[in-house]
Amino acid sequence: MKIIVTAGPTREPIDPVRFIGNRSSGKMGYAVAAAALRRGHSVVLISGPVAIAPPAGVKLRKVVTAREMLADVRSRLPWCDALVMTAAVADWRPAVCARMKIKKTGEGALLRLKPNPDILKAVAPRKGRRIFVGFAAETGRLRTEALRKLREKKLDMIVANDVGRPDSGFEAETNRVVLFSAGGEETQLPLMAKTKIAARIIKWIERRQSRGVMADNCACAERAESV
Ligand code: PMT
Repeated sequence: MKIIVTAGPTREPIDPVRFIGNRSSGKMGYAVAAAALRRGHSVVLISGPVAIAPPAGVKLRKVVTAREMLADVRSRLPWCDALVMTAAVADWRPAVCARMKIKKTGEGALLRLKPNPDILKAVAPRKGRRIFVGFAAETGRLRTEALRKLREKKLDMIVANDVGRPDSGFEAETNRVVLFSAGGEETQLPLMAKTKIAARIIKWIERRQSRGVMADNCACAERAESV
């Protein structure tokens, strides 16, 4: 399969030296890309700024902001069979990015933010038969929020992670996730290495893809019989 994986944070500039960002290290997304490569898939990894090396064999696209990530996902979407959105995309960006470094005045400062585009929602109308997998980073109401995002973002599966604990979510080597599929499956995984969770996600995508192919073959056979 041809798979796009997004990873890492996005950075939204305040001025030439400052930005709004988040704690995503890229570990989860890079593990998904590595797991897909190990299974023989072609992988484009669209990554925000991280400090880890990309897996050998991946086609790496480096981006900084949410809007750059959206542009890259959009332009590569026609190529892919599956999109896995592991990136922690900033939901807001500063309404204005100052051209020069903002000077310290000794006073407080207010930063006006405006919403960033939602990448998954933006590409949903062009989903077609592609498999879309999202992540939900939650600190409470994990199931409710994950199911809402699964529905609203028109995903085939969402990987809900509890990011309020030190051993899961951002920066950790391990993660604690529940997989919710659009078909109603719910799989709670124990605390596991991100590499193991990544392999489970890729396996799920492969199964989902082969079910789709089988359904196509059955439909073809039925059509042939009725001719
Ligand atoms: O990088 P690590 O340190 O290993 O940490 C991994 C992780 C915690 C970042 C990862 O496991 C994770 O949870 N990624 C999703 C983070 C996130 O943005 O979650 P969300 O619930 O805010 O977003 C839901 C989904 O919408 C995500 O698939 C996200 O990529 C996508 N999204 C979000 C905002 C936006 N503007 N556009 C989007 O497409």
